[in-house]
Amino acid sequence: MADLGVGICGIKLRNPFILSSGVLGIARELMERVGEAGAGAVVTKSIGREERTGYKNPTLVELEHGILNAMGLPNPGVDNFRDELSEISVPIIGSVIAEPGCEEVAGKLEPNVKAIELNLSCPHVKGAGADISREMPIAVDLIKSIKGKVALPLLVKLGFNSSLELGKKSLDAGADAIVAMNTIRAMAINIEMRKPVLSNKLGGYSGPAVKPIGVGMVYELYQIAGDKTIIGCGGITNWRDAIEYMMAGASAVQIGSGIFYRGIEIFKELGDGVEKFLDDEGFRDIGEIVGLAHE
Ligand code: DHB
Repeated sequence: MADLGVGICGIKLRNPFILSSGVLGIARELMERVGEAGAGAVVTKSIGREERTGYKNPTLVELEHGILNAMGLPNPGVDNFRDELSEISVPIIGSVIAEPGCEEVAGKLEPNVKAIELNLSCPHVKGAGADISREMPIAVDLIKSIKGKVALPLLVKLGFNSSLELGKKSLDAGADAIVAMNTIRAMAINIEMRKPVLSNKLGGYSGPAVKPIGVGMVYELYQIAGDKTIIGCGGITNWRDAIEYMMAGASAVQIGSGIFYRGIEIFKELGDGVEKFLDDEGFRDIGEIVGLAHE
């Protein structure tokens, strides 16, 4: 049987299927359950210096081809959250809100996580934590200050608005991997109520509709990433989607809205489906398909 194990920035994972940030990665029991369901790693909800309560309901709506959400980066703040992460049996990646002082947050998470993911592309929050992926110098400074503070691998999560140049600059500034991509800024309007559905009005769109956009972004990033790692994210709901991202150049993939559609059983479905594909097609190691669509 084909080997699904991958090495991501020097971290060994039993498989490349990672729970994305914002989904279930907020409490120890939930993260343990995702690990038991077969995830290779878990990314936490994005954590900031201070507690945030987030937006009022409604914060999430299912649309015809995807999901729209605007939570407002709710999180308990790093001092209340860090203990939630001790002694979890699945590898944890700590997601950090891009805000001044985020290197301190990364430093406080460091003892309990295997890597840091910098969320600099939340598509609808204003002020601290806003999408700064078009503010190149600010993004580069944050990356450098985190790398100066923690010895862990740093993943940088880009969004739909992020340029390839930001991807390149992030890697040059010391990022070890790029995650592409975050949700896409979007809106749904209730025409009878004559107003936006979400309390925040704008939200982030994810799910099947965004998958080709994510795959395209991974493909282009792969061409400039050299030997650095690309992690795919966006609209993966079945094993074929995961393989598509990997053939585009992703060494691992993150699952977010896929949990909404398939439940945490999706991790086993992905593992079984990808393993069978690799066996049927004569691959012995999942690494062999990474970037195959480029050749
Ligand atoms: C939220 C944050 C994100 O980065 C995102 O893509 C969608 C929603 C939030 O917490 O509101």
